[in-house]
Amino acid sequence: MKKVLVIISFFLLLSCSRDDIAEPDEYNNPELSLHTPSGFPALNNSVNANKPTKYGVELGERLFNDKRFSADNTISCAGCHHKSSAFADNNALAIGIYGRVGLRNTPPIQNMAFMKFYNWDGNILQLEKQPLVPIITHEEMNSSILEVIGKINDEQEYKELFRKAFGDENISPERIYKSIAQFGYTLVSANSRYDKVKRNEGETFTESETRGYQTFQHKCQSCHSTELFTDQSFRNVGFPLNPNTDEAGRARVTGAPADYMSFRVPSLRNIEYTVPYGSFGQFPTLRSVLDYFDHGVLDAANLDPVLKENGNRIPLTEQEKEDLIAFMKTLSDRSFVGK
Ligand code: HEC
Ligand code: HEC
Repeated sequence: MKKVLVIISFFLLLSCSRDDIAEPDEYNNPELSLHTPSGFPALNNSVNANKPTKYGVELGERLFNDKRFSADNTISCAGCHHKSSAFADNNALAIGIYGRVGLRNTPPIQNMAFMKFYNWDGNILQLEKQPLVPIITHEEMNSSILEVIGKINDEQEYKELFRKAFGDENISPERIYKSIAQFGYTLVSANSRYDKVKRNEGETFTESETRGYQTFQHKCQSCHSTELFTDQSFRNVGFPLNPNTDEAGRARVTGAPADYMSFRVPSLRNIEYTVPYGSFGQFPTLRSVLDYFDHGVLDAANLDPVLKENGNRIPLTEQEKEDLIAFMKTLSDRSFVGK
C-alpha cells in the first residue's frame, strides 16, 4: 500500500512539474467545439485524435495560405482550393507549379471531419496524411516538407503560433500536418437552403425544387446518400475516360480489376460552385452531366448495377433535368463560400 502511495505521489509530482514547464495552453488554446449538424454521420476517428484548437486552426489556415509550400514560392494550398469555390477551383484539371497540369480535377474541401476516404480514389484515410501529397507531387508543389520547414523555421510569427498551438516553438512535419488538418476539419458546410428547409428554419422549396428533390430521391440518392450527399462508396458510372494512362480510378489503390475506373461518389453539396465536373473536369455544366446519364454511359464489366440494369443509363425527361438542377442548387451554402 505504502509503495503504491509513493508511486502515485511520484506521478502527481511529475505531472505538476510538467505543467510548470509547459505553457498553460489548455486555457489559452481552447478546443473548438465541432458541432455535428443534424443528420450528419459521426465525426471520424482521426478528428477525435486531433481535435481542432483555437491556435491549431489559426496556424493551419496560415500554412494553407503560404505559397512557400511550393518549390518556387508561387502556389499555396489555397492556390488550388479557393474558398469562393467551396475550396475547389474552376479548372478542369489542377494546375500546379510551373503551370504543370495534374491528373485530376480539384475537389472541394468540405465536411472532411465526417469522411472516411479522401481523394477521388480514396487513397488517403486520414486527413493528417493528405498535405504531404501535394507538397511532394511533381505537378502540384514539387517540394518536400523539410524544404518547407527550412523556409519558415526562422520566422518569429510562426514560432509564436507553433508555441501557442503546441506548447513550444518546435516546427515539425507532424505539427504542420496536424494543424492543416485541424483547419480542414473546421470547414463544415451545412447551411444551404436545403439544410434550412430540413431544419424548418423558415425556408421552403419552390415547386421545381420540390419535384427535383423527388426525382433525386428516386434516381440519384442510392449513391448520393446521407446528408453528405455521398455514400462514400467507389463506383464505375461509365463517365468518359481520362486520356491520361496513369488513371485507373480506385484500382490505382487496390490493384483490383473490379475497381477499374471506379471513383468515390462525390458529394453534391456546393456543386453550383465547383464547375467543371467529373474526375478530370470533363463536364462543363450540371446539364451536361444529366444529359450524359440520360443518353447513356460507357459500358464496362464493372459498370454499377444501378446503370447496368437500366440499359446503361439513367433516363431523365427535360422537366426532370431542369428540376434536378434547381434542387442541386439548393445545396449551395453561401456562408461557407463567403458570398
Ligand atoms: C495544384 C493544385 C493543388 C494544390 C497546390 C493542392 N491541392 Fe489539394 N487537391 C488537388 C487535387 C487535384 C486533389 C484530388 C487528388 C486526387 O483525387 O488524386 C486534391 C485533394 C485534396 C483533398 C481531399 C479532398 C477530398 O474531397 O477528399 C484535400 C483535403 C486537399 N487536397 C488539401 C490540400 C492541402 C492541405 C494542400 C496544401 C498542402 C493542397 N491540397 C494543395 C489539387 C491541389
Ligand atoms: C450508381 C451511383 C450513382 C448514381 C445513381 C448517380 N450518381 Fe452521380 N456520380 C456517381 C459517381 C461515382 C460520380 C463520379 C464519377 C466520375 O467522376 O467518374 C458521380 C458524379 C456526379 C456529378 C459530378 C460531381 C462532381 O463533383 O464532379 C454530378 C453532378 C452527379 N453525379 C449528379 C447525379 C444526379 C443528379 C444523379 C441522379 C440523376 C446521379 N448523380 C446519380 C455516382 C452516382
